[in-house]
Amino acid sequence: MEGTQSDQGFQNLKGLIIQHLSLDCHQYKDSYLKRRLAVRMRARGVEGFDNYADLLRVDPIEHDQLMHDLTINVTQFFRDEAVFRVLENDVLPLLIYHKVMDEDQSINIWSAGCSSGEEPYSIAILMKELLGEEFDNFSTKIIASDIDKGVLEKASEGIYLPRQVVNVPKQYLSKYFIFNDGMYQISPDIRDMVQFRNIDLFTSTAGSNFDMILCRNVVIYFTREMQERLYMKFHRSLNSGGYLVMGNTETLLGDAASMFTSIHSRERIYQKTEEFHRSK
Ligand SMILES: C[S@@+](CC[C@H](N)C(=O)[O-])C[C@H]1O[C@@H](n2cnc3c(N)ncnc32)[C@H](O)[C@@H]1O
Repeated sequence: MEGTQSDQGFQNLKGLIIQHLSLDCHQYKDSYLKRRLAVRMRARGVEGFDNYADLLRVDPIEHDQLMHDLTINVTQFFRDEAVFRVLENDVLPLLIYHKVMDEDQSINIWSAGCSSGEEPYSIAILMKELLGEEFDNFSTKIIASDIDKGVLEKASEGIYLPRQVVNVPKQYLSKYFIFNDGMYQISPDIRDMVQFRNIDLFTSTAGSNFDMILCRNVVIYFTREMQERLYMKFHRSLNSGGYLVMGNTETLLGDAASMFTSIHSRERIYQKTEEFHRSK
């Protein structure tokens, strides 16, 4: 009976979160949601989902804190060195080569679940380096989106503590950051390449015509159904031959698995299969 009551309490709390936080938390795995809620309940000294729901109804600060805790924001510049090495030495040069061959000067990249900006800025630095003198002949746009407005503000400022830039290769640190007052600020030329947007991946997308989508370390807490739906959305958002870069522990699921070709399996880099292959 107790279990049933607590399950009802959990379901009610989920309804309240959807209403108050406008976050469709049904799309998170229950086990994940319960763990995060337990952290908040402990922090506020509250026992039981019903009591926590009462607190959430009257305390707007708790809304923000819960939202922040549900959307874990851990990130790094050039996170997973091997992945960025493959992007720098193989995938991005190939992308640029095909753009030159096709006489197409626009390059569109989406960092979905960008947290405080380290991922999109890392990609922007690589694009600037790889395009070199050709940079001005291209329109390189990086859309960086996240559900959490707090991290997006931080990302938009582009100011980082020394410990947050330890992974940035030395030559890029001196070239693309301005050191001021003990902090590192991303340089205006890199900042200008990135547009930040508040997008909930459960309900929305950044549009279409992308040459690459990075969605790394975001979907691990999503239900399987949500992951499958999202990968189909990414497929539609990519240009033919476009790349999908996932987190090291994430796997393509559902119908999308047969609509992408794995090109670097260890680094979880996939390519959208050409249209004519898809009907086979
Ligand atoms: C662990 S960080 C990953 C950051 C970066 N991609 C990386 O790999 O370093 C996960 C990010 O996904 C965001 N996120 C979680 N749920 C989301 C959703 N439904 N829509 C958009 N972003 C979401 C979080 O706010 C968080 O900033």
